Amino acid sequence: MANQDTRPIGVFDSGVGGLSVLREIRALLPHESLLYCADSGHAPYGDKSQQLIRERSLELAEFLVRHEAKAIVIACNTATAAAARALRERWPNLPVIGMEPAVKPAAAATRGGTVGVLATVGTLASAQFAALLDTFGQDVHVVTQPGVGLVEAVERGELKAESTRHLLTAHLKPLLAAGADVIVLGCTHYVFLRELVETIVGPAVKVIDTGAAVARQLDRRLAEAGHHAPEQAPRAVRFWCSGNPASVAHAIEVLWGERIWPDPLARSQVFRPGQH
Ligand code: DGL
Repeated sequence: MANQDTRPIGVFDSGVGGLSVLREIRALLPHESLLYCADSGHAPYGDKSQQLIRERSLELAEFLVRHEAKAIVIACNTATAAAARALRERWPNLPVIGMEPAVKPAAAATRGGTVGVLATVGTLASAQFAALLDTFGQDVHVVTQPGVGLVEAVERGELKAESTRHLLTAHLKPLLAAGADVIVLGCTHYVFLRELVETIVGPAVKVIDTGAAVARQLDRRLAEAGHHAPEQAPRAVRFWCSGNPASVAHAIEVLWGERIWPDPLARSQVFRPGQH
């Protein structure tokens, strides 16, 4: 039953960074209903243990599955490294789409042979990232930089604040000093800082991320499984969050562009739906 599946797509992140992926999904698949969980009460994931991130990811995915998600998108590089495998083992028949820093396209795009990767400590320390470098980073020089403090700035909605510019400049400096002519935004939160990054690095440096590629991969997986929604389907988006709903609502308004009050995503299994 191709193009008849009105069940929603479930998306989660450690916080509001995954909205950068959600907007790509919305643009490519406007007829799909979407569920979004921001685990802002536990952000950042980047400095947490892999086990804790796995537990959080399983709980969030379980919640989305209970809300009839027909696919799960892990809109977080850090959680993908820690938990994608566990999610796929737990739901072998459910499409689980993860993401990783765009090292492959960056290696193809660099002219000078040096690629800079800005990502969380957790992503950069993961076995998955090491494997990614082994596969796609052999013929180029890859310089990495943990973006400590940037997730918190985005969670606060401080995209253009002087303090954010200052922090970002300090993180980009070593990458530029190493000669990187391509910068990979390896965390979904950082995508919201793209404009600031581009101002700092200048026009000669290419800035790339994977949000659009994730949306295309989701599209392919839905097509394979015959799970697309019909074209006339309504396009609801529902939001939940952990942490303080007032500050998450502020961040959602800044990043998503709508006034949305997310309902609490409690630490227990008791969740309530948010406003559309
Ligand atoms: N947005 C996430 C990522 O793509 C996680 C950031 C964090 O919570 O540290 O890695």
